[in-house]
Amino acid sequence: MVYDFDTFVSRDQTNSVKWEFMQMFEPKATPETIPMWVADMDFPCAQPILEALHKRVDRAIFGYSSHHTSEYYRAVCGWFQRRFNWNVDSVSIVFSPGVVPAIGYLIDLLTEPGDGVIIQPPVYYPFKSKIEVYGRKVVNNPLLYQNGTYSMDYEDLELKAKDPKNKLLILCSPHNPVGRVWSKEELQTLGDICFQHNVFIISDEIHFDLVRKGVIHTPLEKLFPKQKERIITTTAPSKTFNLAGLQLANIIIHDPEIRDKWYAYVRDRLSINGPNALSIVAAQAAYTHGEEWLEAVLAYLDENIKFLQSFLAKHLPKVKLVPLEGTYLAWLDFTAYGFPQEELVRRIVHEAKVLLEDGTLFGEEGKGFMRMNIATTRSILDEALARMAKVLT
Ligand SMILES: Cc1ncc(COP(=O)(O)O)c(C=O)c1O
Repeated sequence: MVYDFDTFVSRDQTNSVKWEFMQMFEPKATPETIPMWVADMDFPCAQPILEALHKRVDRAIFGYSSHHTSEYYRAVCGWFQRRFNWNVDSVSIVFSPGVVPAIGYLIDLLTEPGDGVIIQPPVYYPFKSKIEVYGRKVVNNPLLYQNGTYSMDYEDLELKAKDPKNKLLILCSPHNPVGRVWSKEELQTLGDICFQHNVFIISDEIHFDLVRKGVIHTPLEKLFPKQKERIITTTAPSKTFNLAGLQLANIIIHDPEIRDKWYAYVRDRLSINGPNALSIVAAQAAYTHGEEWLEAVLAYLDENIKFLQSFLAKHLPKVKLVPLEGTYLAWLDFTAYGFPQEELVRRIVHEAKVLLEDGTLFGEEGKGFMRMNIATTRSILDEALARMAKVLT
C-alpha cells in the first residue's frame, strides 16, 4: 500500500488539542499559528486500525470493556517480540489510561513523601511535575551536552544514587527532548549504578518504535534479566500510531507484589475499570497489522529530518540540530544567537507564529533551545522554517 503523508488532513472540529486548543498552551497563538508543540503527528491513521474501529463501531454498543483476552496479549507481546526480540510475559502487562498517569501512580506506590526521585534534564516536563505533585523531591542528574550531543553524567549519577534518600530514577528512553536512543553500554552503566545502590527504575519507553533507520532501541529490562523486578517499563501504542486520544498504555510490572499493589491502587483509589472500548480494538489492530504503516511513517520522518537539516544549513546556519536518533521531536540549539530565552520565544512563537516548545520547560538546561515537532507534512515544515528564517535573519 502507498501511504500519502504529504496531504494535510484538517483537524477542524476534531477536538484536537494540538490544533484547535493550542491557545490553552500558548494564549498568544492565533489561527495562523503553526502548531509544532505537543507530540502528536499530522498523519492519517493506519488503514487496518480504521477498519477495526469501523467494525467495532458497527456493533453499536460501548459498555464497560476489558482487554484481558488472549488476542490482545498476543498482539502486544507479538509486537515486543518482533520489533525488539523482547519476550514479555503477558501476566506482567497492566493497563493505564496513559503513561504520565502511570508514572504518577508508580511514584506514589514505590516511594514515600520526601523521598528523592532522580531525573535527567532537560527531560519531558511531566516527570518533574508528577514528582512534585506527589510530594517527593526532584533530584536532577543533568545530561552532559558536549560537541553538539548529549550523554549521561555517571559520576554525578553515582553520587545521587548513593544517597539512601533517593529511591527511584525515571529514565526517558528514547529521550524526549534530546533525541538520544541510548546504546546498550549506556543503559548497562546506568542500570549497574542504580541497582548497586538499590535505586528502582521506571523506564519510560513510549518512543521505542520511533527511531531512525539503522538505529536500534534496547528495552532496558532485556539487559537486566536478574533485576527485572526492579524495573517498570512504560509503553503505549499512542506515540507510534498517533492514538493518544484513545488513551491506552501498557505498563510492564514483573514484581507480583508491586503488581498486586498496582491493581489495588487503580481499582480502589482511582476506580479505573478498564480501557475504553475503542482503544482496545485500535491497540490490537495496530500491534497486529500496523507494521507497514509504521515503516512508511518512519521513512517519511527520516526525509523530514533531512529536509530540516538542509534548510538549516542553507538558511539558518547558526541553528544547530541535535542529532535526532529517535522521536520526531527536534531539539534545536539557538545558543549561537545569544538571545535571552524570552526573545527567542517572542520571535519564533509570537512573531513568526510557529509554536515550538520553549526549551526551558524541560529544565534550565534547555535555555537557548526550542523543541520542534516535525511529524507533519513537508509543506507545513517548509512554511514553518521559512517563517523562522525571516525572524532570525
Ligand atoms: C517521554 C514521554 N512519556 C509520556 C508521554 C505521554 O504519555 P501519555 O499521553 O500516555 O500520558 C510523552 C508524550 O509526549 C512522552 O514524550
